[in-house]
Amino acid sequence: MTYTKAQIIFHWLTAAVLIVMVLTGLAYTYDWLDADTMQLHQIAGQILIVVVVARLIARFRHPATPAAKPHHPLEAVMAKIVHAGLYICLIAYLVTGYIAASGLRDPLLIAAVDQGLARSDTGEWFLEAHFTLKWILLALFAIHIIAVLKHRFWDKDLPLSNMTLTPRKE
Ligand code: HEM
Ligand code: HEM
Repeated sequence: MTYTKAQIIFHWLTAAVLIVMVLTGLAYTYDWLDADTMQLHQIAGQILIVVVVARLIARFRHPATPAAKPHHPLEAVMAKIVHAGLYICLIAYLVTGYIAASGLRDPLLIAAVDQGLARSDTGEWFLEAHFTLKWILLALFAIHIIAVLKHRFWDKDLPLSNMTLTPRKE
């Protein structure tokens, strides 16, 4: 059992849009570019919402992930925790970002939440959470990449081919 074509496409699409999100988010907050960057952040963010929802549907329709090689059972549990963590982090980013953006003067959102809420203390909390999430995403992403490299160079069981559209050699 491998990931389906849809799951693989969504994985890489998520990664690509995520790069745009991180760059535009940081560029806006730290004034690297002009304020229009936030428009792009909101548009790409709403596209990402669609991608992540579609990805989760694809994941629930095909819950079986590639059969792991018989590594330590703890490793399989770790992989599940980190993958679940990445999904949760993505969802948390989208929700907190959407609420934070609803408080902007001219939000570019399809269905902004109540501006009073977005500018209240609760809204402020969502904004703070949005800021904090980058460290959590960075930590999870680092573990994700270290795991891929560990499999590639230590176990030599090529997990990358689980996430590519080319057929597996094994
Ligand atoms: C996975 C998706 C997302 C990522 C990785 C992301 C990342 C970021 C980053 C890195 C920043 C800069 C603040 C910081 O230093 O942490 C930021 C700011 C912001 N993001 Fe996002 N974001 C995401 C989704 C969204 C979405 C969906 C929206 C709204 C549609 C949004 C709205 C905002 C707003 C309004 C700010 C500026 C807050 C301010 O400085 O006033 N974000 N985002
Ligand atoms: C250079 C960047 C990346 C590489 C090389 C990579 C590689 C991989 C590989 C090889 C797998 C399959 C693991 C297995 O066989 O079980 C995987 C799964 C996964 N990746 Fe990535 N990934 C990258 C970026 C990301 C990013 C940015 C995210 C999200 C924030 C992400 C989230 C996930 C998740 C959630 C899974 C588990 C999929 C599932 O079980 O539904 N990856 N990745």
